Order: sequence, then structure tokens, then C-alpha cells
Amino acid sequence: MEQLPGYAYIHPIWQLVTLILGLFLAATALPNVDNPNFRVRGHERLGRIFVILVIAGAVFGKLVAASLPVGTLAIPGHRFLAAVIVGLVVIGSVFGYQGGRMRLRVRTGMMRAHPWFLVLAVALLLAQGLLGIGSRGLRLIKF
Ligand code: HEM
Ligand code: HEM
Repeated sequence: MEQLPGYAYIHPIWQLVTLILGLFLAATALPNVDNPNFRVRGHERLGRIFVILVIAGAVFGKLVAASLPVGTLAIPGHRFLAAVIVGLVVIGSVFGYQGGRMRLRVRTGMMRAHPWFLVLAVALLLAQGLLGIGSRGLRLIKF
């Protein structure tokens, strides 16, 4: 088995950090659903970092996969799920911002939908990790 270049390890570790941040966001925000006193400044800042990490991580994963010989680390379903996750994160975040702007006047459907989109994205991020270390991705950790 040929040696994998060191940079191939960056994407999985990067996305693991993203997953932990996502879980932290969920754990700190979910108890505040419908809480008008929720301190949103920190939530919003961390949320923005999360969005950047997810998208940059996906682009980097793509770049690494493209730089390796075809099929070296092919992970069935991983690319499709990546597109779903990025979509959910983008829609969920737009709903967070739009819903937040209207929040003071009326509780909107967008604000209600916001946590759902992002919790689903975080759950799928976990699934990505399992797909990533499963199948041929296992070679990364030399099982
Ligand atoms: C697992 C992830 C997340 C969960 C569970 C979550 C949940 C929540 C909850 C419960 C609220 C308050 C809703 C209410 O007033 O009832 C909220 C507000 C908000 N969230 Fe998130 N969120 C998550 C991630 C994100 C991300 C990634 C962003 C994007 C930057 C974001 C941006 C916002 C914004 C802008 C608000 C409204 C702030 C305002 O009221 O002005 N959230 N979120
Ligand atoms: C959470 C843990 C994850 C693990 C362990 C993982 C693992 C991997 C591995 C081993 C590769 C092959 C290239 C490389 O080694 O860098 C890869 C590629 C890729 N990953 Fe991930 N990944 C994870 C999460 C994610 C997430 C959350 C996304 C997107 C939101 C993503 C998007 C991609 C994409 C687009 C590719 C290129 C696929 C291709 O073109 O065939 N990954 N991933």
C-alpha cells in the first residue's frame, strides 16, 4: 500500500473539529429555543465560524481527493452527503439571520426552522465521519 501524503489527513481532522463545534452549538442553543433572552451574540459568532469551517473543509476535501490518483480514497456517498450538508447549513443560516431580524416583531417560521436545518446538518456531519473512516477511508488510520 502506497504511503498517503500528509495533507490527506488534514480534511478528516478539520471536519472532526467542525463536528465538535457543531455539537457545541447545538448543545448551547437548543435549550434556548423560544427563549427571548437568549444571548445571540456569541451564538452568531460561533455559527459564522462553523459555516466557514464546513465550507472550507468541503472544498479542501475535494482538492485533496482530486490530487490523489483516481479512487485512492473513494468513499461511497460521501460527496453526495457533502452537498446535502452544505445546502442545509447555508439554508439554515440564512433562516437564522432572516428569522433573527424579524424576531422582535413576530416569531417566524424561519426562526422555528433554523435549528432543525442545522441539527440535521450536524447529524449528517457525524454520518460523514463514519463514512469517512469506514470503507476505504479506513486506510487513513491503517486499520
Ligand atoms: C446546531 C446548530 C444550531 C442550532 C441548534 C441553533 C439554534 C438556534 C436557536 C434555538 C436560536 C434562537 C431561536 C429563538 O429565538 O427561539 C438561534 C438563533 C440564531 N442563530 Fe442559530 N443555531 C445553530 C447554528 C447556527 C449557525 C451555524 C448560524 C449561522 C451563522 C446561526 C445563526 C443564528 C442567528 C443569526 C440567530 C438569530 C439571532 C437573533 O435573534 O438576532 N445559528 N439559533
Ligand atoms: C467528519 C469527518 C469526515 C471524515 C473522516 C472525512 C473523510 C474524508 C476523506 C478520507 C476524504 C478523501 C480525501 C482526503 O483524505 O482528504 C474525503 C473527501 C471529501 N470530503 Fe470528507 N470527511 C469528513 C467530513 C466531511 C464533510 C462534513 C464534508 C462536507 C460538508 C466533506 C466533504 C468532502 C468532499 C467534497 C470530499 C471529496 C470527495 C470526492 O470528490 O470524491 N467531508 N473526506
